[in-house]
Amino acid sequence: MTMDQDQDMARVLFTSEQIQARIREMGQAISRDYADVDDLLLVGVLKGCVLFMSDLIRAIPRKVALDFIAISSYGQSTQTSGVVRMLKDLEIDISGRHILIVEDIIDSGLTLAYLRSLLLRRNPASLKICTLLSKPSRREADVLVDYTGFDIPNEFVVGYGLDFAEHYRNLSYIGVLKPEVYEQGAD
Ligand code: IMP
Ligand code: MG
Repeated sequence: MTMDQDQDMARVLFTSEQIQARIREMGQAISRDYADVDDLLLVGVLKGCVLFMSDLIRAIPRKVALDFIAISSYGQSTQTSGVVRMLKDLEIDISGRHILIVEDIIDSGLTLAYLRSLLLRRNPASLKICTLLSKPSRREADVLVDYTGFDIPNEFVVGYGLDFAEHYRNLSYIGVLKPEVYEQGAD
């Protein structure tokens, strides 16, 4: 077993510099679109959103509030089960508020479709979706995404918040794992 995460990567998909440059653009677009809204609330989907959220809010130079929700659709596997469980609810009442969901990645879209309908039932003033990564070829549920960092091919990626069996979230870049890492499972 090695503690060196870099050695488990087949290749780097996005460097830290590429991610940060794209987030600055996304922050500008969001700031522009919400210029007339005074109670913007960003809702991060734990845990994958944490690195993206922390950089994105610093790219939005205006008043924002934050809250977090945790739902899970994947056990330890790399395939979606379609079963979504709520692990942690929001603390803030979102009724009448302008909500922007912040996600790490949209794959099948099933998690987000569930989350979107759950939050819409609480009557927000508006609800938009922001994701760092999207795999359009994998979509099973039709969800409109308002802000996408990068479209990526159908490959399992880790880093910058994204995990395989809870590891690799702390990488500053996004990479594709070597197949033998899945085959062994994570230790
Ligand atoms: P969906 O419901 O299929 O859209 O799955 C969404 C969730 O699956 C994401 O929020 C991630 O937690 C996880 N996920 C999907 N694809 C990947 C990936 O390539 N790497 C790491 N996690 C992923
Ligand atoms: Mg996630």
